Amino acid sequence: DQKLNVGLCGLGTVGTGVVEILTNHQEDIVHQVGCSIDVKRILVSNLDKPRGASVDPSLLTDQVDELVNDPEIDIIVEVMGGIEDTYHVLERAVQNGKHVVTANKDMMAVHGGKLMELAREKHCDIRYEASVAGGIPIIGSLTNGLASDRINKMMGIVNGTTNYILTKMVDEKRTFDDVLKEAQDLGFAEADPTSDVEGLDAARKISLLSTLAFKMQTELEDVEVSGIRGISSEDLAYAEQLGYTMKLLGIASREHGKVEMSVQPTLVPNAHPLASIKDEYNAVYVYGEAVGETMFYGPGAGKLPTATAVVSDLMDVVKNVRLGVTGESSVYPQYDKQLKAKDE
Ligand code: HSE
Repeated sequence: DQKLNVGLCGLGTVGTGVVEILTNHQEDIVHQVGCSIDVKRILVSNLDKPRGASVDPSLLTDQVDELVNDPEIDIIVEVMGGIEDTYHVLERAVQNGKHVVTANKDMMAVHGGKLMELAREKHCDIRYEASVAGGIPIIGSLTNGLASDRINKMMGIVNGTTNYILTKMVDEKRTFDDVLKEAQDLGFAEADPTSDVEGLDAARKISLLSTLAFKMQTELEDVEVSGIRGISSEDLAYAEQLGYTMKLLGIASREHGKVEMSVQPTLVPNAHPLASIKDEYNAVYVYGEAVGETMFYGPGAGKLPTATAVVSDLMDVVKNVRLGVTGESSVYPQYDKQLKAKDE
C-alpha cells in the first residue's frame, strides 16, 4: 500500500489543528485519497515547549534539514509563518522535489511567483487555500468553480481579527485594545497584529484574490489601504444610530483592463448581508458576468477552520501525486500585468 509522508513546519494554532484533523478524520481521508498520509517530522522552534497528547514527541525536531533533506518526505506543510527564512526553507524543499502546502499569505504575497516558477520546473505542486479567508474555499472557488466566468468585481471582509474587534466593540461595548488582546489569545491575530489592524493583511488577501479572479497579476503596492486603528467607539455608535455597520472591506474591480483595489473601513447599510458578518467570520462577494452574484461565507481564522483548508489542500496534492500529474495544474498562474486587447 502506498503511503505519503509529510514534513510539518510549525506546531502552533494551525499546526496543532492539522495534526488533529489528520488524526480524527483519518479514515475518511484515506478513503478519499486512496493511501495513508503520515506526519513523519514536525519542525518546531522550541523543543522544550509542552505539547498536547495528540502529538508524538519523537516526531519533533528543530532542524530544517531533517525535513527538507529527508528523501522519504514527499510533501511539506508549512504553517509556521514568516517571510524570508520560510521562503528559503520552502525553496530548498521544492529544489529537492517536495510539494508544498502553505497557509502563509505573507510569504506567498512576496515570493509566491518565484516559488511557483521553481515548482513548475521541478514538477511540484504548491497549494495555499488556507492563506485567504481561513476555512472558506475561496481560492478553489475562483480557480475551479468560477473558472469559466469573467469576474469584474469582488468585495468582502477578509480579515477575521478586525471583524472580531469591530463586532465586539459594538455588541459588547468593549474597548479596541481589550478585544484585540482577546483576538490574539484566540489565535486569530497575526504574530504582529499591526498587519491586521492597519489593513495590510486584508490588502495581501485582496491582491492575491484579484490576481486569481481577474486573471492578471496584481501588485500589493497598488492596494489603497487604511485600517481600523483610528475608529472609535463613538464612530461605531454613531454609525449604528444611522442604520449602518462599520466593516473593514476589501474591494477590487477591473474596468477597461485596469484593476483598482482598496481596503478601507466602510459604512455598510444594515440591510446588506455583509453588515451581519460577525466575529472572526469572513465573507467574499463575487460578481461574475455570467453567474451573477455569489457570496462565500465562513470562519476566516482560527485553528480548525484554517487547518481544514490546509488538510484539504494536502489531500489534493496527494491525489495528484498518485495520478502522476503534480506541477501541471498550477493554481497560481503567471498572468500578464496588462490585460490583452480583447479584454478591453
Ligand atoms: N490574522 C488573520 C485574520 C488570520 O485575522 O484574518 C487569518 O488569515
